[in-house]
Amino acid sequence: MNITSLRNGFYGFSQILNGNIVKSLLRPKLIVQRKWYPINYYNNNRNFTLSSTMNSKIMNGNLCDTDPELYKIIKNEKHRQQHGLEMIASENFTSIPVLQCLSSCLHNKYSEGMPNQRYYGGNEYIDEIEILAQKRSLEAYRLKSDEWGVNVQPYSGSPANFAVYTGIVEPHGRIMGLDLPDGGHLTHGFFTPTKKISATSMFFESMPYKVDPKTGLIDYEKLAETARLFKPRLIIAGISCYSRCLDYKKFREVADENGAYLLGDMAHISGLVAAGVIPSPFEYCDIVTTTTHKTLRGPRAGVIFFRKGVRSVNAKGEKIMYDLENRINQAVFPGLQGGPHNHAIAGIATAMKQAMMPEFKEYQLQVIKNAQRLCEGLKSRGYQIATGGTDVHLILVDVRNVGLNGAKAERILELCSIACNKNTVPGDKSALNPSGIRLGTPALTTRGLKETDFDQVVDNIDKALKLAQEITKIAGPKLVDFNRVLEENAEVRSKVQNLKEGVEKFSGSFPLPGYEDF
Ligand SMILES: Cc1ncc(COP(=O)(O)O)c(C=O)c1O
Repeated sequence: MNITSLRNGFYGFSQILNGNIVKSLLRPKLIVQRKWYPINYYNNNRNFTLSSTMNSKIMNGNLCDTDPELYKIIKNEKHRQQHGLEMIASENFTSIPVLQCLSSCLHNKYSEGMPNQRYYGGNEYIDEIEILAQKRSLEAYRLKSDEWGVNVQPYSGSPANFAVYTGIVEPHGRIMGLDLPDGGHLTHGFFTPTKKISATSMFFESMPYKVDPKTGLIDYEKLAETARLFKPRLIIAGISCYSRCLDYKKFREVADENGAYLLGDMAHISGLVAAGVIPSPFEYCDIVTTTTHKTLRGPRAGVIFFRKGVRSVNAKGEKIMYDLENRINQAVFPGLQGGPHNHAIAGIATAMKQAMMPEFKEYQLQVIKNAQRLCEGLKSRGYQIATGGTDVHLILVDVRNVGLNGAKAERILELCSIACNKNTVPGDKSALNPSGIRLGTPALTTRGLKETDFDQVVDNIDKALKLAQEITKIAGPKLVDFNRVLEENAEVRSKVQNLKEGVEKFSGSFPLPGYEDF
């Protein structure tokens, strides 16, 4: 298969994923095959670079020539991505236009401050780009600019969350988030009995809310009860591993009862929200943060949305206005960050444009269909799924009933070229020994896999986990012994190798967005 026909096989929208950034904006139908730019490509044959500096080779050579050692490692990673099944729920394959932004001249520029208020000169085009990214971010979520503002400078999701806490919660103020072992994120305040793990729990007082260990569903009643006692300044509605839609209305009620701000951290689901295929946090939240590289499929970066206008009306009938804009903007810079990553901000701008296209909605619908097919397939083979199903892009498989734990399941799948992560399941006693694995469909859906392809994915996962059960019978319960058998037992190694070859053949038949070799 040549590369163009391969690329035409991408999930329905080769122009978004493969278009040259210029061509994708102006002539979307054209698909070009890209190569490394030749030396002096951008110098219009003025030919000064090669002759004028002793660094010319360093500055103008291709990576494959200037640093073959590193280039080889990157190529190996590319091969792994092409031939493995990428099922880590937070990952995706971004498009060529986004990659082009990331490797553009925008990387070179310092622009501390906000558009039109910079601490450095020469920012006229950088301002244009940041304003475009802001405008498109609001449009992608159907937000009005007099009701919502947006900051597109956070380097990623964790800094975005910390900027919100810094801006609106006083030092050691109280924050409530879903507990990490129950599907929340570290930045929502994780700590253990002996250690404050996340900076959120070091610099603020964090109190987790939990899922019901029987159903796996968020216990909203308990959340309300705890909030009444704890009186948080901020409640976070957001997940890293929870397969159901959140009830933002309930979160709002709890926040209102306690005079708290409600932060929606939609990092995982922001692509699904932009496509309008699951409920949006914007209706009920005061602030919404997101990463832009997960389901949204943009660059590795973060965004903060904040409300503007009237927050409430007091007993005297006076309007209380939101004052989030300055507090959040100033927390991002100069509070926590320095120069914005302008190449990433350009990537956000073009990713938000893509997120408004009909093909993007089609993609997100397919992400959910694939997750549901994966879920049903595994259930039909006897695996238990936390909450019993999924409304989104991921599932959490509890492997206890098949005699495994998360670490063994993750390891055998990894050796068979299926990437996922071990994860705690509701009721787990120890976060160090989780009983499940989290599986997501965004990345494979980008590569064009449909429901019937996921039947084969299920088959491969099932075979690998059955092999893990066989190994456990030989090795006993301990992970070290399990790993030893995996390494030393020739019969086991040959079975793993067979499975891996099958997975790699299957995966290698699907196209992969990005540059050809790296
Ligand atoms: C809900 C949630 N918030 C924030 C983050 C942090 O994002 P990053 O890894 O980009 O810092 C993640 C990352 O997985 C996440 O799942």
